Amino acid sequence: MNMERIGVKEGNYHLSNYDKTYQQFDWDEVKQAFSWSRTGKVNIAYEAIDRHAENPMKTDQVALIYSSPDREETYTFSDLKQSSNQFANVLKKYGIEKGDRVFIFMPRSPEFYSAFFGILKVGAIAGPLFEAFMEQAVRDRLEDSEASMLVTTPELLERVPHKELAHLKQIVLVGEDDNKEGSFIDFHEEMNQASKSFDVEWVDLEDGMLLHYTSGSTGKPKGVYHVHHAMIQHYQTAKWVLDLHENDVYWCTADPGWVTGTSYGIFGPWLNGVTNVVVGGRFSPENWYKTLQDYEVTVWYSAPTAFRKLMSAGSQAIEPFDLSKLRHITSVGEPLNPEVIVWGLEAFKLRIHDTWWMTETGAQVICNYPAIDIKPGSMGKPVPGVVASIIDNEGNELPPNQMGNLAIKAPWPSMMRAIWKRPEKYESYFLNNWYISGDSAYYDEEGYFWFQGRLDDVINTSGERVGPFEVESKLIEHPAVAEAGVIGKPHPERGEIIKAFITLNEGYVQSDELLDDIRQFVKKGLSAHATPRELEVKDSIPKTRSGKIMRRLLKSWELGLPTGDVSTLEE
Ligand code: PRX
Repeated sequence: MNMERIGVKEGNYHLSNYDKTYQQFDWDEVKQAFSWSRTGKVNIAYEAIDRHAENPMKTDQVALIYSSPDREETYTFSDLKQSSNQFANVLKKYGIEKGDRVFIFMPRSPEFYSAFFGILKVGAIAGPLFEAFMEQAVRDRLEDSEASMLVTTPELLERVPHKELAHLKQIVLVGEDDNKEGSFIDFHEEMNQASKSFDVEWVDLEDGMLLHYTSGSTGKPKGVYHVHHAMIQHYQTAKWVLDLHENDVYWCTADPGWVTGTSYGIFGPWLNGVTNVVVGGRFSPENWYKTLQDYEVTVWYSAPTAFRKLMSAGSQAIEPFDLSKLRHITSVGEPLNPEVIVWGLEAFKLRIHDTWWMTETGAQVICNYPAIDIKPGSMGKPVPGVVASIIDNEGNELPPNQMGNLAIKAPWPSMMRAIWKRPEKYESYFLNNWYISGDSAYYDEEGYFWFQGRLDDVINTSGERVGPFEVESKLIEHPAVAEAGVIGKPHPERGEIIKAFITLNEGYVQSDELLDDIRQFVKKGLSAHATPRELEVKDSIPKTRSGKIMRRLLKSWELGLPTGDVSTLEE
């Protein structure tokens, strides 16, 4: 097999002529797919749910298949319209208005989606939080966004320091709570009383709908602000890249606490009126293959880490299952290794299509399409309607095969519109009208882009983005830790793992128990995925004269690489 290039199979794809479409396409062409192009009334929740519920041909189609170890349920578009209307009425009753931030902190469940669309229907801004977050991570996000309401479960409530959050006025609890102290709003009780009709709050295309917190190399996580306008790109890329058709059954494995789980776990499929599979519970090769088989999944969106885990489980794990309905696979979040693509060709008889984008881009930007050849190791080509390039630090475009900043010409429909409350931070992303991604890459003569790495210190562990500063800050809260420097260390299955270098305070001696205690401290304070897998005690941590931790130097030491310019190193 020629592994330089994997050709296209015959098929009836949405984007059958990439080159021509790329040259001619204009986002205005997509607008007629939405009811607001005729009515002038905009709301992404209406387009994703109500529009289908009001269509006699689609109203009873299954929109959501939900499966977790203890629940298996299906919901039609009509069901989701009604349940989100009910929650919108609950929100109105408790005074939530357009522009308010309402956060959701709970595992994936049907209630999550009712709440999410209810929030959008009143014109409020939804803030989904990953269920594994611990207290500090939850606090940072609720504080910064000044959220006035939180929807959570009794189990997760203990990680919400609600008495200390001045702006947080109300908490909705989903589930039984035996020893409720304080006044909480009971989700099920309120939903039962609420009307199933609701007049959707019409908004402007440029009004906010979503805040996703994400990490950079410095400072606390920042709130990436998205607007209703993004639906244009969610809708169209879900056609071109995910190749969604009317009768598809689609499964996106990402949690809606991360952008993949909203843009393509919610909007992409439902704007296209497709049946969407949502699976709760833990990962195992068996239950993943069983999900693909039992729900007859046709299109699947997942991540390299997951594919690598499935690959290492071997072919005996896949053999018992009938995956013949699966026709298209896509991947995001980290570099997709060529050997995973080779495995995919054997295991599924399908190509795995890598896609590149970020929280800030809001939707897919550089992708492999079913209708173009794949060059394993490449992220593919820009989405029609989006200009991507490689630029130098002065903002000049570079020719093919030269490494530089991967950049996207502003604006595009799903581009973030602000960093919450930090206009100067937002501005700092742009140079000569280019959005600077923070990734380095190059493109070849045929216009395929090749990812090279992050240019900042952001860590990508199992496809999840972790800021070293957050981990360092948590580490030094531990009484034994004086200083900390945190880096990403390459790892065959997880992409990177988090490695922390620490110095100990006077009176503490290194021991396995102490290191374990420090790890647990981060895990309980921040989250499991932000916990250093490796912890190394040092006599000192290299810093610049201005006191900045030199993570680059730590990384060079760790990897045995040349240390480069160390002229700013503190004595
Ligand atoms: O470094 C790139 C990496 O993930 C970063 C974005 O992370 P996040 O905002 O959490 O969004 C992840 C999913 C949309 C990027 O700056 N990344 C994402 N996709 C790829 C990737 N790295 C290599 N190849 C990809 N396909």
